[in-house]
Amino acid sequence: MIVSSVNYKGGTGKSTMAQNLAVAFTLNGYKVCIVDADGTGATMDWSEDRHEREITPPITCSHLTNPKSFTSQVKALYKDGEYDLLIIDCPPALSPIAVKAMSISDYLFIPINTTGGNDIKVTQKLLKEFQKIREIKEDNGGKVEAFLLANGYKTNVVLHESVIKIMDQLCAHYDVGRFETIIHNRVVYGEASMQGKGVLELDNRKAKVEMGRLMKEILTIAGA
Ligand SMILES: Nc1ncnc2c1ncn2[C@@H]1O[C@H](COP(=O)(O)OP(=O)(O)OP(=O)(O)O)[C@@H](O)[C@H]1O
Ligand SMILES: [Mg+2]
Repeated sequence: MIVSSVNYKGGTGKSTMAQNLAVAFTLNGYKVCIVDADGTGATMDWSEDRHEREITPPITCSHLTNPKSFTSQVKALYKDGEYDLLIIDCPPALSPIAVKAMSISDYLFIPINTTGGNDIKVTQKLLKEFQKIREIKEDNGGKVEAFLLANGYKTNVVLHESVIKIMDQLCAHYDVGRFETIIHNRVVYGEASMQGKGVLELDNRKAKVEMGRLMKEILTIAGA
């Protein structure tokens, strides 16, 4: 299965979710490789950090940022069955590489900050592009599904609740799903990234529970 963590908006949690899901699936016995498609290489650094700190299990990361060779390189990584799961961490731009990542994926997860701002408007642009990609894929007998993921949620903040309602309207309009699991704003997400880890490897029960739920939802969606 190939999944992309994607949004044209910056700072929505694409890399954080890619890293945490990579840890979650790896700890559950899946063979995972992250493709860092962002020139800044934040997730590549995270993976190297993990290696240097000798954190086990190691998680392979490939830094692929050339749009011309991107699709063939990802296919080559996936084709010989070495990995069960490729997670593509996309750059925050309406870029050729993000379009290619979406086109090659089976599933997209689209993190959105529930803090409001410009996230919704930018996500709409992404969803418009996604509709075109989905149509082309379906015309060619393929399939790609997308799911919005509420991130950075704070309980008892009216705005955050309103953003989730707007997300549901987007889902209905663009015929995409939304993960029931909501990722809350927790310091531990930043801590984990800084240490080359996922929250499942740190000591925050609530974060562990929500990340475990998200992984299970993905497995259910994928019928695994
Ligand atoms: N649920 C969360 N709770 C607290 N902090 C979070 C959460 N999710 C992400 N962050 C923090 O928000 C910042 C942006 O996250 P991240 O780098 O994952 O976003 P991104 O979408 O990959 O950004 P970019 O567009 O620059 O690639 C980071 O400092 C990260 O630690
Ligand atoms: Mg990122």
